[in-house]
Amino acid sequence: MTCLTVAAETFDQCFPDYGFTLQHRLADLPEFELPQLLDLSRKLPADCLEYNAGTVVPGQDPDQTPRNGLSVQETIERIEQCKSWLVLKHVERDPQYRALLDACLDEIYPHAGRKLTGLHDRAAFIFITSPGSVTPFHFDREHNFLLQVRGEKTMHQFDKFDRDILPETAIEDKYVDGSAHRNQPFRDEFQRKAQTFTLNPGDGLFVPINSPHWVQNGNEVSVSFSITFHSDQSDQMARLYKLNGMLRRRLGINPTPVGHSARMDAFKHSGIMAAQRVRSLLP
Ligand SMILES: [Fe+2]
Repeated sequence: MTCLTVAAETFDQCFPDYGFTLQHRLADLPEFELPQLLDLSRKLPADCLEYNAGTVVPGQDPDQTPRNGLSVQETIERIEQCKSWLVLKHVERDPQYRALLDACLDEIYPHAGRKLTGLHDRAAFIFITSPGSVTPFHFDREHNFLLQVRGEKTMHQFDKFDRDILPETAIEDKYVDGSAHRNQPFRDEFQRKAQTFTLNPGDGLFVPINSPHWVQNGNEVSVSFSITFHSDQSDQMARLYKLNGMLRRRLGINPTPVGHSARMDAFKHSGIMAAQRVRSLLP
């Protein structure tokens, strides 16, 4: 079966820096029914399960995130009423979901390969959320296609290049310390700059790397399938942000932001790769 309908022209215009919608045919698959998702949650290790009460705000302080007092399985069983947000991470560990991820990305890669090289590290995530839940303001480090399977979801997405919305240091910090909490500070005045996409079952949205977003669920349970990958270019950008973050933290200097000078980026990146080669030769 063909999984996706992608407009090649739109893809070429927007990818990999700007959001755009597409269509998919996964909405009726049994893999996304709650009983199957419950089974899947039992097979995944604890570090692949994250959930909390969904009664949060876009600028939620991660330290104050309310728990819901339930187990993962109880949360899924009661998702209609328990006002919660839950993610099953790296569901590609399960062969059935790996096959779905591969089927979708096999259709994406020919398009993505026109813009980027070395596509790799496929991964998939399933978000299960109660009616009215909010996913706080954050950004991700993967090329991400969010496929809406059940319920309605409204994505408020922001320009990845707008440093008033997301400061350079916030991006650097995320690449220096990958375990830092994803939530970013949100101010109400940001909202007028949002690009808003309402997604229903069968709709998909491309979410660019470092493009901050927050999500509002509709009045029903929502299930979304997020399919992600990396590229040579995203790896290079990650290394540059990490280097800049370390230069700023350790040496107190203000490095040229990533993307401002292709020459400077190339110079720094060749230095990083040379240092890595030297390190790999040391005993
Ligand atoms: Fe996200």
